[in-house]
Amino acid sequence: MKYKILTLLLLISTISIAQQTLNLIPKPNSVEIKKGHFVLNKETVILADENSFEAKFLQKEIKNKTGLQLKISLNSNSISKIGFYDLLLPGVITKTDSLGNRSTNRNKGQYFLRVEKNDITIAQADNVGNFYGIQTLLQLIPFEKKSEIKIPYLSISDQPKFQWRGMHLDVCRHFFPKDFIKKYIDYLAMYKMNTFHWHLTDDQGWRIEIKKYPKLTEVGAWRNGSMIGHYTDQTFDSIRYGGFYTQEDIKEIVTYAKERHITIVPEIEMPGHALAALASYPEFSCTGGPFEVGKTWGVLEDVFCPKDETFTFLENILVEVMELFPSEYIHIGGDECPKVRWKSCPHCQKRIKDENLKDEHELQSYFIQRIEKFVNSKGRKIIGWDEILEGGLAPNAAVMSWRGTEGGIAAAKQKHFVVMSPGSHCYFDHYQGEPKNEPIAFGGYTNVEKVYSFNPVPKELFAEESKYILGAQANLWTEYINTPEHVEYMLFPRIAALSEVVWGTSNPNEYKEFEKRLISHFEIYDKKGINYSKAIFEVTSKVQPAENGVAFELKSANPNGIKYTINGSEPNTNSISYEKPILVTKNQTIKAAYFENGKAKSATIEQPFFITKSTGKKIELVHQPHENYGIGGSFTLVDGMKGNPSKFGRDWLGFWGKDMNATIDLGKTETISKISINTLSSEGSWIYYPKSIGILVSKDGDNYIPITIVSSKEIKETKGKIVVEFDKQNVQFIKVIAENNGIISDGNPGAGSNSWLFVDEISVE
Ligand code: ACM
Ligand code: ZN
Repeated sequence: MKYKILTLLLLISTISIAQQTLNLIPKPNSVEIKKGHFVLNKETVILADENSFEAKFLQKEIKNKTGLQLKISLNSNSISKIGFYDLLLPGVITKTDSLGNRSTNRNKGQYFLRVEKNDITIAQADNVGNFYGIQTLLQLIPFEKKSEIKIPYLSISDQPKFQWRGMHLDVCRHFFPKDFIKKYIDYLAMYKMNTFHWHLTDDQGWRIEIKKYPKLTEVGAWRNGSMIGHYTDQTFDSIRYGGFYTQEDIKEIVTYAKERHITIVPEIEMPGHALAALASYPEFSCTGGPFEVGKTWGVLEDVFCPKDETFTFLENILVEVMELFPSEYIHIGGDECPKVRWKSCPHCQKRIKDENLKDEHELQSYFIQRIEKFVNSKGRKIIGWDEILEGGLAPNAAVMSWRGTEGGIAAAKQKHFVVMSPGSHCYFDHYQGEPKNEPIAFGGYTNVEKVYSFNPVPKELFAEESKYILGAQANLWTEYINTPEHVEYMLFPRIAALSEVVWGTSNPNEYKEFEKRLISHFEIYDKKGINYSKAIFEVTSKVQPAENGVAFELKSANPNGIKYTINGSEPNTNSISYEKPILVTKNQTIKAAYFENGKAKSATIEQPFFITKSTGKKIELVHQPHENYGIGGSFTLVDGMKGNPSKFGRDWLGFWGKDMNATIDLGKTETISKISINTLSSEGSWIYYPKSIGILVSKDGDNYIPITIVSSKEIKETKGKIVVEFDKQNVQFIKVIAENNGIISDGNPGAGSNSWLFVDEISVE
C-alpha cells in the first residue's frame, strides 16, 4: 500500500513538471523539461572571458533581477557554472547528440540551452546564439531578490525562422532622445528581434546630422508648431519643436545596437516626405520654395526634383549615412510621392523626355533606380516602401510591403526580397483597445491577437517564391505619440506577439496559450518600469443576429470576471455576472468591465444599441468589403451598433475602391418612413466620403422605386450622418448604394490610390 502511494506521488510530481509552463516568449522551437532544479546562487560562476560583452550582460541582468553578483572567470573550481560552447570549434563541445547539420543549414542565432545538475550550458555557433541563449535563460530567472534561485532542468533547442525581425520607429513626427533609443533597442533585444528601422527624415523634421549640409539640422530639425488633436480637427500649436542626433550620438547608438546583435537600417526618405530637407535647401525642389518644415502631416506636394544637383545632394548625404550605418540595406523611403509638382516642372518634363519615360510614375522609378545604382556602387542594397514597384522595380531593390501584402507578393514573384509590414497587422500606431479608453491614436484597430495572427508568408506564394520573404516588422509612426512612455505603451505588449510571429513559433489557433504567457510578462514590464497597455484584459464583444434583435457576447482574458449592467450605470462587483450572450431587443446601453478580487482590472466598455426594423435582418452585398475591414461581414450594417468615428476597425465595413451596394430583406412587409446610414471621412487614412448615396425600396425584391439620391454636398454637410425621411411606404426590401470616391485626386492624402469607403449601420424606422 505504501509503495502504491509513493508511485502515485511520483507520477503527480512528473505530471506537474511536464505541465509547468516556462512562459518563454518567443516560444522556443523545442523544450524538454526534466525533473529537478539547478540552484543559482552566489557561488555560480559565469565561465567566460572577463571582457566578453555577452557574459557581462548576463552578469548585470542577473544582478538586476536577483541581487546576486556572479563572478565571470575562464578558470574556476566552482561546481555551479554557466558555460558557453562554440559548436564550430571541433572538440570543444562534448554533447553533440541533437546537433546534426548545425553548421550548414543553420540560421544565425541558433542556440541550445541545457540546465543540468551543476551546469547551465549555452551551445551555439556564434555570439548571436550566445546572446539569444542568454535572453532565454534570463526569462527563466524570476525578478526576485533571493539568495537561491531554482531553474528547472531542461533542454532547449532553438533558432529563428525569419532573418528580418524588425521594429521601426519614426523620430521625425516626434523626436526621442538618445537614451530612449537605447532603451528601445533593449526592448527589441529582450524579444530576440534583430532589426531596428530608424525613420530619420520626413516632412516634419530632419533628424540626422550631415556634415556637408549643416542646414539640414540647423533649419530642417525644427518646426514652428505641431498638430494638436486629431488630423480631422486641423488644429495646431505654435511652439518651436525639434531635435536631432549628432554623428557622435549615432555612432554610440549603432555600437550599442551591434553589441545586442541588432542591425540598424536607417531611412532617408525620397523623393517624397522631403519638406524638412527642402526647407533647408529649397534649390532641390521643383519650384525653388521658400518652404517651412511641416507642421501638418499627411502627404505633402513639395518633393525632391529629380535634377542632377538633387542627385549629387542625396548621394553626398548617403555617403555620410553609409559611413555611420554598416547595414546591408539602406532604406530610401519611396512612399507617398505626389506627382503634381513634377507635372508642371520644366526640369522634370525634360527628364521624362530625355530618358524616354512614359510619365511621372516612370520618373519615380527612374529616381529610385538612379539612387539604387549609387547605393549598389558602395556595396550596399536599397529597400523601399511598396510604392517603389510603381513604374518598374529597381533591379536589386527589396520591398517593404505596407499597403497590405499585395506589394510584397508582387515583388516576391519578381524574385525580389520582401519585408512584410501590412497596415492591418503591423501598424502599432493603431488602437489596441477600445478608443474611448486609449490615448488618441492614428485610427485602425490592431490588438495583440491580430498581431499574433499574422503570417509573414502569404498563401498566394509558391514555396520557391516564399524564400524571398525576409521576414516582417511593425511600424511605429509618431504623429500622435510625443513621449517615450507613450512609445512604450504602443509597443508593449504587441512587440511580444510580433516577436513570436517572426521567430516562427506562433500558432494563432493557440492564442489563449500565448496570452497566458504574455500576462506573465506583465510582471517583467512592471519590474522594469515599462509603460504597457492592459487592453487585453478589456472586455471585447461579438454580436450575432437573434430573434427580434441581436445577441451580445462578451469575452476577456478571463470571462468569469466580467460584470455588466443594462441600464447605463457603471458596472461594479455587484453587477450582473456574465454567463451567456445577452439578448438585446430594444434600445439600451450595455456597460461591462473585467473584475479580479473585487477590483476593476479593465476600463469599462460601453455599447449603445439602436434596434430598428432592419436590425438582425437578412442583408446582401454586391461587392464584398476588404478582408481587413469586414470581419463581421454584411451583418455589421444591421447589428444595432453604430460605427464609432475614431475606431475604423470593427464596427465599420471598409470597401477599397468599390461601392457599397446592399439589399436588406425585412422578412415581411413593413411600414417605413425613415432610413439612416453613417459614413466616415478620415483623409489622413485615405477614407473619403462617398460621391453619392442612393436609396430604393421594393415590395417584391424585383421592382424598386427610388426614394432619394443624397449628393456629395449633403453628405459633407451632415458630416456623413445621413437621415432620409419620406412618406410612409409598405415595403419588404431596401437597397442602399454608396458610390466610392474612386481614385484619390492629387494634393490629397493617398493621391493616386484607391479611396476607402467606410459605412455602417443602416437603420430603418
Ligand atoms: C507609410 O506608412 N507611409 C509607409
Ligand atoms: Zn521638378
